[in-house]
Parts: sequence; structure tokens; C-alpha cells
Amino acid sequence: MKHKSVLLDESIFVINPQNNGVYIDMTLGAGGHTRKLLEKSSPNGIVIAFDRDKKAIEYAKETLKKEYGERLLLVNENFSNCVEKVRELGFEYVDGIVMDLGVSLDQLKSKTRGFSFLEDAPLDMRMDVSKPLTAEKIVNEWQEKDIENILRIYGEERFAGRIAKNIVRSRPIYSTKQLADIVEGCVPRNLYKRIHPATRTFQALRIVVNDELESLKKGLSSSVELLAEGGVLCVISFHSLEDRIVKNTFRDYKSEGVVRLINKKPIVPTKDEIYKNRRARSAKMRCLVKINKKLEDSND
Ligand SMILES: C[S@@+](CC[C@H](N)C(=O)[O-])C[C@H]1O[C@@H](n2cnc3c(N)ncnc32)[C@H](O)[C@@H]1O
Repeated sequence: MKHKSVLLDESIFVINPQNNGVYIDMTLGAGGHTRKLLEKSSPNGIVIAFDRDKKAIEYAKETLKKEYGERLLLVNENFSNCVEKVRELGFEYVDGIVMDLGVSLDQLKSKTRGFSFLEDAPLDMRMDVSKPLTAEKIVNEWQEKDIENILRIYGEERFAGRIAKNIVRSRPIYSTKQLADIVEGCVPRNLYKRIHPATRTFQALRIVVNDELESLKKGLSSSVELLAEGGVLCVISFHSLEDRIVKNTFRDYKSEGVVRLINKKPIVPTKDEIYKNRRARSAKMRCLVKINKKLEDSND
């Protein structure tokens, strides 16, 4: 696997895994965070690792599972269903949770998954390939108005109308390259110096195909529910739509007195990390701790 973990040391430092603790990695990917959680909670800590992508689970079975055996529990599920799954495994509460959102470099670089306009691939974009909706279905079958709406809402794309019109005119569209060329042809090149013109369109399609923002909302509330008092949740996000949801959800739990925020401003990667891993440049990490009422009462 090629994926380089983002904010790895920072997230593990905040979670501070202990021997005998139980931890969840909601987004296993290539297993970077899971491995660190296992190492730091040795010899007896348990790590439950979720991924909705079967390939990530299969890879971990061949690698981490062979090394760590029963200390690692792998779950091929959307993290939005984590409460049910964790309880089925026999755990009521856990001591720390990490969520490293988005896709892994291995998914992005795949020649068959269609997540990136940098690789020519079929327009798929599903993390969970058992689900019916693909990016190809959206661009070829949805109405122009609906395509425009998702580009505007989930891509924050100011040329959504123009792009949607050109998508509909250019049907059928089967490959990432074909779609990227269509988008490139209808936006002013000089306005897209820092990002590729198709970045926002691809982001929007991926979010819709995987219902990412709804999964995130559910995953966050489920995580807070699963945390033991004093347990820590670290969420690493990669674009403003995700970060806004994390920030607002954390603020709501804080005002309800359920959690305390560990960092007021998001933690971001160092210049050195960004230099070594360009994908880290947009990362933001927010962390909270579930309030330990017993400790607070005894401090009064
Ligand atoms: C950025 S990668 C994680 C990388 C990992 N932290 C590492 O260090 O190797 C994100 C992973 O989370 C998975 N994922 C994203 N959303 C998910 C969800 N709602 N439920 C379960 N897995 C999800 C993706 O399939 C992907 O493998």
C-alpha cells in the first residue's frame, strides 16, 4: 500500500493509547493509524478497525491481523453503523477513536476505481462496491438541474451550471479522463491555478456516490455515544464541508455539556509533513474528550 498517514503522531499523542484500553480506527485504509494504536496499546490493548472498502479489510487481514492476532478486530462496514457493530463485538464503551476521512492514496491511484482525474479509469467512485450508485450513473442518467445542484452544494463549484450543461450534452460519459476534459473545457483556465479545474466536480460526485456527509454526521454522534468518560475522539478532515460538520457537531456537544474541546483551533500538519506528503496540505484535526462527570464532581 502506498498511502502515507496524515497527522499520525499528533492524533496518537492526543488519544494516548494504554495497555488494556479499547480503541477504534473508523477509517482503516492502509492501516497507519491502526498500527500505531496497536503498538502504543501493547501488549493487551484492543483495536477495532472499520472500513467500508473490502480491499482495505483484505489487506489488513494479510498484514496487521497476522501480526497482532486477536488484538485487532476488522469490520467491513460504514462507520455510521459503528454503535451496533461495536456492541455486537461485546464492547459497551471505548477509550479513544480516530477518524481520518476521505479516500486513501491506494483508492485514488487505482486504475479501476475512478476516484481521481489523474488516472484514466471507469467512472465508479464507490468505496463500497456493493452499493448501486456510481458516478457513471449520475453523469449519464441524472437531470441537468440535479447535477448542477450537487456540483454547487458538494463541490462549491461556481461554474456548476455550465459544467452540468456540458455533461448532459456530452453523454455518454464513461471515463474519468473524458469527464475531466469536459469540465476543463467549460471553466476559465486562469481561475484554476492552484487546483485542477475538475477537482470540485470530482469531489462533489464522490461525496454523493458515498453519501459521505450523512455518514460523517452519523459517525460523529455514534463516536461520542461510544466514548467512555475521559475518552478522546480525533477527526482529521480534508475539505471545508467536512470540517464545518465536525466543528459544528463538536460545538453542539460542548454546549450540551457532553464533551470538552481539546483544541480551539484545528491542528494542522507541519510544513515538513506537507513537504513530504502533498495530500496533507488541506488536513485539519479537531479533538474532543467526553466529560468525566465523576472527576468534575469530585473537583467541586
Ligand atoms: C484517508 S483513508 C485512511 C488512511 C489510514 N488512516 C491510514 O493511515 O492508512 C480513509 C479510509 O476510510 C474509508 N472510509 C471513508 N469513509 C468511510 C465510512 N463512512 N465508513 C467506513 N470507512 C470509510 C475509506 O474507504 C478509506 O479506506
